[in-house]
Amino acid sequence: MKAPKFPKGSVPDHVAVVMDGNGRWAKKRGLPRTAGHEAGEAALFDMVEGALEVGVKELSAYAFSTENWKRSPDEVKFLMGFNREVIRRRRDQMNEMGVRIRWVGKEKRLWKSVLDELLEAEELTKKNKKFTLNMCVNYGGRSEIVDATTKIAVDIAKKKIKPDQINEKLFSKYLYNPGMSDVDLFLRSSGEQRTSNFLPWQSVYAEMIFMDVLWPDVTRKTLWDAIAIYGERDRRFGKA
Ligand code: FPP
Repeated sequence: MKAPKFPKGSVPDHVAVVMDGNGRWAKKRGLPRTAGHEAGEAALFDMVEGALEVGVKELSAYAFSTENWKRSPDEVKFLMGFNREVIRRRRDQMNEMGVRIRWVGKEKRLWKSVLDELLEAEELTKKNKKFTLNMCVNYGGRSEIVDATTKIAVDIAKKKIKPDQINEKLFSKYLYNPGMSDVDLFLRSSGEQRTSNFLPWQSVYAEMIFMDVLWPDVTRKTLWDAIAIYGERDRRFGKA
């Protein structure tokens, strides 16, 4: 499929995606929930390719949230193993495409084997400048803000910084991935209209689009359709 030509300035730099609806997609087909997650892999990487084709610079994918530990032990086990496998299987392809992979999340509880795989992918792709794929694994927005606050408190106690130096710019340096840019376009599949603790700090001025499609049915075309809607929005950032 040929990529559309969007007018200059109407393509978001940073797109965040909540990949929701895998379970429902599987249920509709009489399959186990895990089959829905498996089918979701192709959707994510098709979206990455589609993003590259139209000049998006960064994509953040919510692959496992700090709340997902509440799922059944079997599903948690599957999702951890699946993340590890996907990173291992896709990192060379991503590297060849000029994609830099970053892990964004909390270390506590995350399986060491998954973290190792993510860090290896980060190392392999660290020189790539064209595009960044943030794999948000064991990520929670509130926990990101609380953890940043704790690190700031530690630095104050060590007299590295003073309380009156704290401002938005300094605070953002303590987030999980300080290099991450603000989210321009926030997408969620499956028709649910919630942000579910994904990138709250970075998304305060994001345009939100909730798509009526289950995640495994998403393709690059879904992204392009959302970008066309985004291009029509009037972003004022608080200005009149
Ligand atoms: C939500 O679907 C999805 C997740 C819990 C995140 C995991 C996403 C994937 C495995 C997709 C691809 C990811 C990678 C790493 C390639 P759900 O289970 O909440 O669906 P439901 O709301 O229909 O039950």
